[in-house]
Amino acid sequence: MLDPYAKIAEVDPSVQRKLSESLELRAADQEMRTLVTSYLSRLNWSEGMEILEVGCGTGAITRLLAQGPGVRKVTGIDPSAIFIEKANELGEQECVEFVVGDGRELPFADQSFDVVVFHTVLGHVPSPEHFLLEAKSVLKKGGQIAIFDGDYAMRSVAIGEDDPIQACVEIMKKHNTQNPWLVRQLPAMLAAAGFTAIESASHPYLGKNPDYLLNYIERGADRLADLGRITKQTAAALKEEAHQRVRDGRFFGLFPFMSFLAISE
Ligand SMILES: C[S@@+](CC[C@H](N)C(=O)[O-])C[C@H]1O[C@@H](n2cnc3c(N)ncnc32)[C@H](O)[C@@H]1O
Repeated sequence: MLDPYAKIAEVDPSVQRKLSESLELRAADQEMRTLVTSYLSRLNWSEGMEILEVGCGTGAITRLLAQGPGVRKVTGIDPSAIFIEKANELGEQECVEFVVGDGRELPFADQSFDVVVFHTVLGHVPSPEHFLLEAKSVLKKGGQIAIFDGDYAMRSVAIGEDDPIQACVEIMKKHNTQNPWLVRQLPAMLAAAGFTAIESASHPYLGKNPDYLLNYIERGADRLADLGRITKQTAAALKEEAHQRVRDGRFFGLFPFMSFLAISE
């Protein structure tokens, strides 16, 4: 596995800056925003809430959480100083704070948060169980945990058998995630970490505005070329094929996500 997010602080700064752009591109997508607000609206919002987002990246979800009803403070933590610098540049809300740090060793007092959010983080890190236990310790009793992650095993942009564009997605499934099966395993992991499930839901993302999926395909094509599986020319041809499908109205994309809400026992 070569998932750059798994050891983000060691990744070349220029790659981290590119990933910053992808994160903001995805968060700005209207269809994605609708999925995100739909699962976050299921939280039990209350006056004076304090929320922690672990693995906040450039802070797109942190900024959204800060707009929730009654929120007193939202803290975003991420090991990438480059992401946190970008988050500070983009975040203008007074009730938001960004911290450089690791989700396996949270620098916060026990039982200090009402909600902990993991938004597309646990599929990228080794030992997600460890992150859940750490989240449990900083959550108040009865506090809520919200998790949103990709059902990577189901990701597809193929419009037929043996579609070469799908190879770009397959390499990303292997090399841009630690555990493509994470969402199927989360209910058992949450129970083992001491959480009671409230609800889970599936959120199909279709890339109605294809910019984010095209960016994902392009990253996959570049990864195949970097690995020497295809030439740079073939990578360019795969990218062009995807763009041509968009122009022709033949483009298809389905990236399912799942959300889980649970309570700390
Ligand atoms: C796909 S990004 C999601 C970022 C953000 N939640 C969003 O949706 O825009 C995964 C994030 O997990 C972070 N991450 C990786 N290892 C981590 C760790 N040990 N502790 C906390 N966050 C980590 C990465 O730096 C990255 O920002």
